Amino acid sequence: MRFKDKSIVITGGAGGIGRALAETFSKDGGKVLVSDISETGCKEICEKLIQKNCTIDYYSGNLAEKAYCEDLIAHTVQKYGSIDVLINNAGVIPRGTILQTTDEMWHSALDVNLTAVFYVCRAAILHMQKQGGGAIVNTSSMWGVYPGPDHLAYCTSKGALATFTKCLGRDYAPDLIRVNAVCPFEVNTPMLRTGFNARNLDPDKAIAQLNATVPLGRVAEPQDIADVIAFLASDEARYIAGECIEISEAKTVY
Ligand SMILES: NC(=O)c1ccc[n+]([C@@H]2O[C@H](COP(=O)([O-])OP(=O)(O)OC[C@H]3O[C@@H](n4cnc5c(N)ncnc54)[C@H](O)[C@@H]3O)[C@@H](O)[C@H]2O)c1
Repeated sequence: MRFKDKSIVITGGAGGIGRALAETFSKDGGKVLVSDISETGCKEICEKLIQKNCTIDYYSGNLAEKAYCEDLIAHTVQKYGSIDVLINNAGVIPRGTILQTTDEMWHSALDVNLTAVFYVCRAAILHMQKQGGGAIVNTSSMWGVYPGPDHLAYCTSKGALATFTKCLGRDYAPDLIRVNAVCPFEVNTPMLRTGFNARNLDPDKAIAQLNATVPLGRVAEPQDIADVIAFLASDEARYIAGECIEISEAKTVY
């Protein structure tokens, strides 16, 4: 029960990694608030976990809107009385080179993957300072650290998020607010699978091929990433701040 009675916000909680996060934190005793643009997805995950006697609720909305980002934190504090852990996991992945990237694609990547994190963190840190500490874990990407081809807006937003995490980690370490990020490689979620669909590839076959390129033998499942995030948010990681943890599966070692 690492998160017993802790108030936890998870953005993108209806997505692949987000659902694993909601399960992990609520089964470990947390009071979880799921945020996602998909209200149906939020309801599904909450209903499933309420049946297992977890304390969980949702507040759905669009992270591209500043008002929603700030309301999310206000709502959490009103509901649970504090905010102890913030997991900025929501993300979008517009695909393309610069010539294939429309203004809308560019802004959506920066709005959801970066600016929303700025608004949500700013609101949360005010409360965490008053409470005497807290933990924030952002989901960057290996592509934020080692960019891949044909994903300009996504890689740029995730690279900026990695730097943002280190800046926040440094600035708020004295307040005992630990800010870290995870940088996953490929994870078997709707985000990865829609990329294969877009290229007219069968996602199952494509993932089987991708598995063969991974030294550990398979691409990550959502729970593999949720476990690292939960560790970083827990007291077991009390001496880790300002870090971007590369979940590279040893793929970057040549
Ligand atoms: N899947 C991968 O291979 C991979 C690799 C590295 C990093 N990541 C990162 O992991 C995080 C989780 O991704 P995932 O793989 O679970 O993808 P996913 O698409 O399954 O989940 C993303 C969630 O974010 C939500 N979301 C998107 N835009 C939103 C908005 N404007 N407002 C509120 N919610 C919004 C979606 O509804 C969705 O539920 C993302 O930040 C992603 O960039 C994923």
